[in-house]
Amino acid sequence: MSASTSVVQVEGLHKSFGEREVLRGIDLTVDQGDVVCVIGPSGSGKSTLLRCVNLLEQPTAGTVRVLGTEVTDPDVDIDRVRTHVGMVFQGFNLFPHRSVLDNCTLAQRTVLKRSREEAEAVARRNLEHVGLADRAASMPGQLSGGQQQRVAIARALSMDPALMLFDEPTSALDPELVGDVLAVMRDLADAGMTMLVVTHEMAFAREVADRVVFMDDGLVVEQGTADRVIGAPTEDRTRSFLSRVLDPTHRHV
Ligand SMILES: Nc1ncnc2c1ncn2[C@@H]1O[C@H](COP(=O)(O)OP(=O)(O)O)[C@@H](O)[C@H]1O
Ligand SMILES: [Mg+2]
Repeated sequence: MSASTSVVQVEGLHKSFGEREVLRGIDLTVDQGDVVCVIGPSGSGKSTLLRCVNLLEQPTAGTVRVLGTEVTDPDVDIDRVRTHVGMVFQGFNLFPHRSVLDNCTLAQRTVLKRSREEAEAVARRNLEHVGLADRAASMPGQLSGGQQQRVAIARALSMDPALMLFDEPTSALDPELVGDVLAVMRDLADAGMTMLVVTHEMAFAREVADRVVFMDDGLVVEQGTADRVIGAPTEDRTRSFLSRVLDPTHRHV
């Protein structure tokens, strides 16, 4: 166990798929209560990094510590660690034939062994936080994409996570639905949640992130405060990426 307050500590992380080395030596720390935004072009390895933190991918080399536990240790009880990590993907991955409330109680009941009563109380509280208290009985298909993503966030929060991972949570949404999801994430950040967020939303990163990490081609090219990395990048590759992503005619890179 580590005595530090780092929630995530990644050191020398490498990941290959066959011959292709997708992560080429990543060092990254997320401290308690911090919001770290990872930005970078498509294919730079952002999702793979997140998936290595949760051990959805097995790193090829390097260490990953989450909440003081080395998840790369072959003897680790990864399910126990994952219980404390909420993950929100681009797709919402809700069970389509279960109500919003059921979607938010299933894992609480099976993994945390909560009673139906307790799980429902927790779920309703989190649905209220994401502005969907009145949709508990709805089926996912009856909701907009933005609402479904907020249900996915409520579902993750219902497990009382110590860390939330977000992988481009708004990039599949119609533009007019993005704001509500970002507002929920901003509230979470304000409430002190530790968050590692892959995003193309530069205004969000600028406002909410304690640190911005720019990745390209499997490496961290530069990192620092949002004002530094987005406002005054020192690396050519960062400048070139930002000029593309901040140009509204090239929103998707
Ligand atoms: N399971 C996999 N098998 C083979 N290649 C993969 C796999 N997952 C990702 N990759 C490759 O790794 C590179 C980085 O992917 P990814 O982490 O998804 O990047 P990003 O999220 O930054 O767009 C891409 O070239 C992608 O094709
Ligand atoms: Mg990705």
